[in-house]
Amino acid sequence: MSGAATAPAALAAEGLTKRFGGFTALDGVSLAVPEGSITGLIGPNGAGKSTFFATVAGFLRPDGGRVWLRGQEVTGAPPWRLHRAGLARTFQIPRLFGRLTVAENLAVAAPDQPGERLPRPWFARRRIREEERALRARVMAVLERLNLARHADAPATALSGGQKKLVELGRALMSGASLILLDEPAAGVNRTLLREIAATIARLNREDGITFLVIEHDLDLVAELCHPVHCMAEGRVIASGSMAEVRADPTVAEAYLGMALEPDAS
Ligand SMILES: Nc1ncnc2c1ncn2[C@@H]1O[C@H](COP(=O)(O)OP(=O)(O)OP(=O)(O)O)[C@@H](O)[C@H]1O
Ligand SMILES: [Mg+2]
Repeated sequence: MSGAATAPAALAAEGLTKRFGGFTALDGVSLAVPEGSITGLIGPNGAGKSTFFATVAGFLRPDGGRVWLRGQEVTGAPPWRLHRAGLARTFQIPRLFGRLTVAENLAVAAPDQPGERLPRPWFARRRIREEERALRARVMAVLERLNLARHADAPATALSGGQKKLVELGRALMSGASLILLDEPAAGVNRTLLREIAATIARLNREDGITFLVIEHDLDLVAELCHPVHCMAEGRVIASGSMAEVRADPTVAEAYLGMALEPDAS
């Protein structure tokens, strides 16, 4: 298993391959997310970063390669099983329940909700009410941490793009995940909110011991937050190390430059 020293990596992939028809989106990706780290995943548009997330989180079936979660092989496991094992992901474009409030969007992400095991006898109703109160308290605590408490009872559709990203993070936290994959947490977010998101991720990592794998195009944010950093291009990992090392790698510069030049070349 790649990246394994004494403790197994929180997440490790080896030779992961995913094809869409004749197109190879992941071409033998091997990388590790050390336990307790905030690991970065960078690379130009279309590099395969979101596909990597979808494949390790069980949303897409790999065509080859293997995935381990804390040393246990989970290749091809369905999302619910990985979720139970402590893995949560957010989506590049937030997927919230538009007809539910912000608080309800978090509440439905809790693993064991009151009233879920229906039917229940009449004498259990008081217990359900108590469980519901406890759940609401947990939801509010998470919303406080994300600075969203004042929006708790607003419909999720009323939030800004950046706030929706935070709600997705909140949903991952409600699930009790110990490994969270964040797909572009800072995309479309203003500088102030971006600072807040960065501080929140760092705090959750430091205080709650949550391991993160973060896809992000804001390389300054990655430099500040992430170690190690993996850079992908055209379905492969082309560099890994500290952000400084990855930035200094000529193949990385070339991959990004190639993208920048593309519109002129076409
Ligand atoms: N379901 C799919 N069917 C066909 N092709 C797909 C599918 N999902 C992704 N792709 C292709 O795979 C490649 C990698 O896409 P992916 O979304 O993983 O890139 P990315 O690195 O996340 O890019 P970005 O930074 O723009 O989000 C792209 O060329 C994309 O068009
Ligand atoms: Mg993507």
